[in-house]
Amino acid sequence: MNIKNSWLKSGYVDESVPTNIDLKGEIIRLKEEKDAIIMGHFYQKKEIQDIADFVGDSLALAQEAAKTDAKIIVLAGVHFMAETAKILSPDKMVLVPDLNAGCSLADSCPPEAFAEFVKDHPGHTVLTYVNTTAQIKALSDIVVTSTNARNIVESLPANEKIIFGPDRNLGNYLNSISGRDMVLWDGACHVHEKFSVEKIVELKKENPEALVLAHPECKQPLLVLADFIGSTASLLNYTKQSDCCKFIVATESGIIHQMEKYHPEKVFIPAPPNDSTCACNDCEYMKLNTLEKLYNCLKYEWPAIEVEEEIRKEAVKPINRMLDISRQFGL
Ligand code: 13P
Ligand code: SF4
Repeated sequence: MNIKNSWLKSGYVDESVPTNIDLKGEIIRLKEEKDAIIMGHFYQKKEIQDIADFVGDSLALAQEAAKTDAKIIVLAGVHFMAETAKILSPDKMVLVPDLNAGCSLADSCPPEAFAEFVKDHPGHTVLTYVNTTAQIKALSDIVVTSTNARNIVESLPANEKIIFGPDRNLGNYLNSISGRDMVLWDGACHVHEKFSVEKIVELKKENPEALVLAHPECKQPLLVLADFIGSTASLLNYTKQSDCCKFIVATESGIIHQMEKYHPEKVFIPAPPNDSTCACNDCEYMKLNTLEKLYNCLKYEWPAIEVEEEIRKEAVKPINRMLDISRQFGL
């Protein structure tokens, strides 16, 4: 097979992995041989989380990418996470198991239209969620993640005029808790918008002792009934510290793997979406990554993320501002 052609076609190395190899052992061998670090987001498949050197939320992945000594970063997550790693560590090779792992939220914010939006609001500070392309970050003053968004918004003077994008749900939530009136871009994540409030209310009736945990990308009616709202890392920490033994988890179900690892005796019920018979709600982009693609990307050192230097130089500034402010808050 012509591997190069299949690369170009598929966005990942479309080379079948021999079935007689110890796949996990080979991934570890290649990683050590090439001085690579495998970083995985909490929404990855269990087997990828388990083989990763580092598992975290968007903020932790960016922080780790900025400080790692490894020569190669393999980012098992979605494209914007790998792009953020490349922006922070331009001299390193940043690989992704599957280039098709996009993000509906990042896609809901095209750069040309966002540039117009910024132009239409002169004098506004531009705050953007990390789930965006490098071009959007290059148009921003400060990047935020769901872990530090509240701290960053509240660190700005109360009368500062702010544009927030692209997530309207996170933006609305931040406005409600901070008393700000940020102008919001009208974007959303299809996974978090799909949770069914009705089904969660039913689950709560059947499990009255369960606490509802929700990611701030969920719609407001769901956030209103949540007992705790936070980023993936915050939700995980909450389950570690809480005395409660049952949780209804309204975010991508991959995080439940970490929750169960820390507390195998507790019960974690994935919140169901409104449009299927499936009990949980997965991000199909996150789930594109497999151990086979991870093995191939390490072996062939492809696909690699590239960011145009002109854009990178602008995009790194708001990310570094985020990292600086986060440090001030001990995050
Ligand atoms: P976290 O930063 O909370 O991990 O969120 C990432 C994400 O893509 C949520 O959908
Ligand atoms: Fe993007 Fe939503 Fe998937 Fe997170 S869950 S990566 S916001 S599409």
